This record gives sequence, C-alpha cells and structure tokens, in this order.
Amino acid sequence: MYKSEQLALSLKHLIESATWQPHQKLPSLRQQVEQSGFSLMTVLNAYQELEAQGLIYSREKSGYFVADHCADLPKNSVVRNDKIAINSVVFQYLKSVQAEGVLPLGSAFPDSQLLYSAKLMQTLGQRAKQRRSYEQMPSLPPGHYELRKLIAQRYCMQGIPTDPSDIVITSGGLDALNLSLQAVTQAGDYILLQETVFYGAWQTAERLGLTVITIPEHPVHGLDLIALQQALNDYPIKVCLLMLNSHNPIGFTVSDAIKIQLAEILHRHEVYLIEDDVYEELYYGQKKPLALKSLDEKNLVLHCSSFSKTLGAGFRVGWVYAGKFSEHIQHLQLMSTLSVNPLIQSALVEYLSHRHYEKHLKSVRKALKRLKKQYYDYLNERLVQHCQVMNYPSGYFLWIELPAHLDSNLLYQKLLNHKISVAPGSLFNATQQNKNAIRINCSFEFTPGITQALDILIAHIQE
Ligand SMILES: Cc1ncc(COP(=O)(O)O)c(C=O)c1O
Repeated sequence: MYKSEQLALSLKHLIESATWQPHQKLPSLRQQVEQSGFSLMTVLNAYQELEAQGLIYSREKSGYFVADHCADLPKNSVVRNDKIAINSVVFQYLKSVQAEGVLPLGSAFPDSQLLYSAKLMQTLGQRAKQRRSYEQMPSLPPGHYELRKLIAQRYCMQGIPTDPSDIVITSGGLDALNLSLQAVTQAGDYILLQETVFYGAWQTAERLGLTVITIPEHPVHGLDLIALQQALNDYPIKVCLLMLNSHNPIGFTVSDAIKIQLAEILHRHEVYLIEDDVYEELYYGQKKPLALKSLDEKNLVLHCSSFSKTLGAGFRVGWVYAGKFSEHIQHLQLMSTLSVNPLIQSALVEYLSHRHYEKHLKSVRKALKRLKKQYYDYLNERLVQHCQVMNYPSGYFLWIELPAHLDSNLLYQKLLNHKISVAPGSLFNATQQNKNAIRINCSFEFTPGITQALDILIAHIQE
C-alpha cells in the first residue's frame, strides 16, 4: 500500500467513526505533514483521494472539510420501530419446526452429535451420584463461585481483567440478554439494534416495551458506523445490543478496526452495549476475534455468552459479564429463574478445570469448518446464477439472499411439506423485511439425506 493510501485510510476511519464531524476543518496540509511525518506530496495525494471518494471537500483559501456523508444515507436507513410484534411469529415458527421427523436446517442449534462432549457427560454421571451436587445454596445468584472463577480466568486470558464478582451465571445466553436489557432499561427507553438480528433481541425488546431504532447492515464491514453515529445523534439511545462476532443470522465478524471505532463512539456518547457473543468460540482462524469488552475502558459493555453453541443448548448455562450491574441482575434472577441447575454448574467446574474444553472446541471448530465448506460449495455451485450465498469463516450458518420475487415465508412453508425446515429471513426482522433471505444450519453431517434435502431447496429456488 502506498503511503498516501495508508494515510487516506486512517483519515477515513476518523471520518467514518465521526471522530471528525461533518463540516469540521481538517488539519492544513502543513499541519498534517508535521503530524504524520509524511511528505507534502503524500499528504496532498491522500486528501485528493478522500475528496474523490466524497468524504471531504475543499474550499478555496480555507482548506479541507469533512463532507456531510450522513446526508447521503438513504432517509429511511435509520428507522424507529415503536410497536414490535414478533413474538407470535417466532412462536409459530418454532412450533412448526418441532414436529416429528423435520430435518432441522432452520435450527439455531448445532448438531448435538458435535456437542455434548463424552467427558462432560461422564463427569455429569459421576456428579449425579453425589448428593452434594444438588445443593442449591452454592448455585444461587450470582452462580457457583468456582464456575465464575473459571469463566473469569478465560476473560483474563483474552486480556480482559475480570473478577469472579463481575460474572453472573444465567440460564443460557438468552436469559443473559434478557436480564442485561432489563437491568439497563425501563419501558419506553430507546435501544439500537441492527435491522437483521437474532430474533431473541427483538422478543426481549417487545417484552420490555422498548422503542427500537434500527440501522442497516454494512455490506462490507457488517456494522454501519455512519448509520450508528446518525442514530446516536438523532435519538436518546440508552443501549445498543449488537453481535460483532459470527453474526446470527448473516454470519459476518466485524473487523478489529471497526470495533476500535465503535468503542470510541460508545464511550464518547456514554451509551451501554450489550454484546451478544454466544458464537465467540466458533471461529476458524488462529486468532479468536476481539470482544468489544476488551476495548471497554469505561465499563459500558455487558458481555453475554453461553455454553449452548459449544457444549449443548440443553444444559441451559450462560453468563453475563455484568460488572456494576451484577447486583441488579441478581435481584431480577431472584424474581424469575432463581438459579441455574446446581448439578450442571458443578459438573462444568470439574470439566473446565482441565484441558477437556479446549480439545473439544478444537474438534468442533474443525468439523464446522469442514461442513460449512461442503454445504457452501454444493449450494453455491448450483445457485450462483439465482442468488447470493453468503459465506463467512466462522459459525455454522449460511445466509442465502434469494431472487427478489421469492418470498422466504412461502419457501419455508413449501419445504415444510417435504419435512425440511429453513429459517425465513422475516424471523430476524420485526419489520418483516428480509422476505427474500433464508438461513441454513450447516452443522449436520453432509450425508446423502442432506444433499437430497438441499436438492429440493435448490429446485424450489430455481423454479
Ligand atoms: C445470537 C444468539 N444469541 C443468544 C442465543 C441464545 O442462546 P442460549 O441457547 O444460550 O440461550 C442464541 C441462540 O440461538 C443466538 O443465536
């Protein structure tokens, strides 16, 4: 990359993150030369490049200014959703796919064959024979101390200083999200979601009577910082609920550079973030993607995760890095679920204390990477002329954007007649958009039965 491109890119980040506001004057060429150490020619080229991209404009004898790029956003890109009614849609969907013999390509859970580690089951069996494993007192909120300590250690290993008292054990990730949102907001408060998001987020907002401001997904970065900045300027948003790693349903992971800018924006606006990171361990590369929690100097982030996607959703164990909200969340737990099952909490302590979990994660990641490639190659080869199959290197979902005329609700109904489920896009958007997209779960072994089901799906799309 040329030096001028490098400089243009770092200035672009400042503009996109709204560190430099619209119509703000940029440092003069001379100041920029002094600050950056680049030559005048390099700085001039960088400014001209940004001008060509429409990010800045020049005024004769006055210098360069940040363009009002928010003005270029389509007017409806930041949307206020007052009345949300998604719960019954989700309820009906889940009922329909629960029927006996339905192939669960629409399921949010990984294939149980990959999870439920034999070692954990063995530990559970041993603990189940001991009366003390059922003792309620050590498991009451905030949850088993040793389990919280082990989770805190895992945060510390990622460079996130954590004390067991920051962690509250919950009944899965959904409970963690619900409790966090309830602790931070009151009915009528404004929250920010992406347009397309895990339906649990919409359901929680519906239950708590919150006003949801949505921003669109960014086609390249996943998260649209300009729209986010505009939403924060226009509405009194109290909390953002975002998925930055292995987004459900689309699958993207937001880059470190965008996360750094997001942290800066949230800190500047003093807005809380509920970070839904339940797929955090299902990455395929060498390096675990950053949690925004690791950039959270002001303690504004409540980081929610769970063992559902790695060990099994049937255990119903999750947690929230609640920090200062820990006590409030425990109060809410005492009024609802009370505590997570003591037996599974104590078995997890034993299991996580050894290397079993790391070994298990490695094999789950390897299997998911292989399976997702098999599904993607099969579908993409046959559908490339009809639709876009989005493929990201993590998790086990493929997001398929269908031809515009195809309604995913109808497609889902037709496939159900063949005892195949897919998740229609409208499940992930309370405004019932995404009608022409579906989510496919690729965690099931790629057997002839699966290819037969995919062939039926392909035939319906090609029709
Ligand atoms: C994005 C996201 N968050 C939270 C959850 C809930 O996880 P859990 O099963 O641990 O409650 C899910 C489950 O599908 C999910 O996809």
